[in-house]
Amino acid sequence: MGRLPFFAGNWKMNKTVGEALDLVKGLKAAISGVIGVEGEVEVAVAPPFTALYAVRKEIEGSSIFLAAQNLYWEEKGAFTGEISPLMLKEVGCHYVIIGHSERRQFFGETDETVNRRIKAALAQGLKVIFCIGETLKEREGGKTFSVIERQMEGGLKGLDDREMGNMVIAYEPVWAIGTGKTATPEQAEEVHRFIRGKIEKLYSRGVSEEIRIQYGGSVTPENIKGLMNQPNIDGALMGGASLKAESFSKIVRFKEL
Ligand code: 13P
Repeated sequence: MGRLPFFAGNWKMNKTVGEALDLVKGLKAAISGVIGVEGEVEVAVAPPFTALYAVRKEIEGSSIFLAAQNLYWEEKGAFTGEISPLMLKEVGCHYVIIGHSERRQFFGETDETVNRRIKAALAQGLKVIFCIGETLKEREGGKTFSVIERQMEGGLKGLDDREMGNMVIAYEPVWAIGTGKTATPEQAEEVHRFIRGKIEKLYSRGVSEEIRIQYGGSVTPENIKGLMNQPNIDGALMGGASLKAESFSKIVRFKEL
């Protein structure tokens, strides 16, 4: 069985509750019929924490999944400003994005803290979208594969085959995020192939064939088809394009483009 294409919208620090509801209503209407149990693709939205509850109410009964953008690994306690896996599960999250490059760059996350977050999320029954990717400097210095390898070994440390069944990997080259500079389909495919090969080495052929690897970084309705034509690209993690129902839904409906 092939891998079900998976498109997730990372809204980052955008959308008030009212704006989030408008967007998700528009999205629901624009993609109805394309997703679902029998559908051809899977779709998730990752609003800011403040809009999770309202968006969950709005997508109830639809096939859109709810995702959070981060979490803290403790279940509860004196951790001012943090959100626990339990809280996300209760509010209706199915997925959580972990290790986004913006968290690594601006909020001091490391492979080790990413690993703790992944383990806590999985223990609570959340599925994880695990983000990895190299900076421009690392790419230009010929370090892309060693960086990806380090992020994978660190982030996935201690996870077993069964847990890998609840993981999605998002390859997001940092130089392509929000820059309008998408990786070419060939550039992305080269890294996706490497990632799948590394999963095979760390786990098994079966795990590597099942895991979905999304591409992220300036994905648009114009470039999605070329990316999706690559054998190891199984969907996209979108930022900017996910902030409007029109572009989000066009990407989800890439087969019709
Ligand atoms: P853009 O699609 O805005 O480049 O953002 C990608 C991203 O970071 C998704 O997580």
